[in-house]
Amino acid sequence: MKNNSRRGFMGKAFGAVAGIGAIGSLVAMKKSWDPLPSVKAAGFTTLDMSIYEENVLVTEKWRGKPIFVLKQTAEMIKNAEANPKDLERLIKIGDAHYMVCIGLCTHLGCIPGYNSSDETFLCACHGGMYDFSGEVTKAPPPRGLDIPPFKIDGNMLVLGEQGPEYTAMKENSITL
Ligand code: FES
Repeated sequence: MKNNSRRGFMGKAFGAVAGIGAIGSLVAMKKSWDPLPSVKAAGFTTLDMSIYEENVLVTEKWRGKPIFVLKQTAEMIKNAEANPKDLERLIKIGDAHYMVCIGLCTHLGCIPGYNSSDETFLCACHGGMYDFSGEVTKAPPPRGLDIPPFKIDGNMLVLGEQGPEYTAMKENSITL
């Protein structure tokens, strides 16, 4: 009887120590899963929007993905105004409008090419097409190019942060 209760006590004590050890290693594991502060900072890309030229596609990078930036010409904006679906996709900073999209086809992820003479994107993999705002114009892509989370900060665009303009786009199903 005495032995049993001693064994019981030893068992509980061992269990408690093992439990504390398990919690300790879980905390350590969680710490190793959390991104380092430097990695968190690397999740943001800040673009100075004043450097882009009209109808010249520039490919930036955010979280390893290509980001298309296309400053719109006056004619593009006029066309977009006639088609609210296009206009809603554009980001307005100051007096300028920009298409800022993840440069991966929404069909199977190829990188579409831009033709500045007819202001369209063609995905060579299966012939999908997009217009100057990133809206899909020819299947098989199921939707327009996705827009990365962004926040407007003066003349800068912070990719990876979620500002009110991006939230509105999501709420209106302009982007996923
Ligand atoms: S991956 Fe672009 S059309 Fe298929």
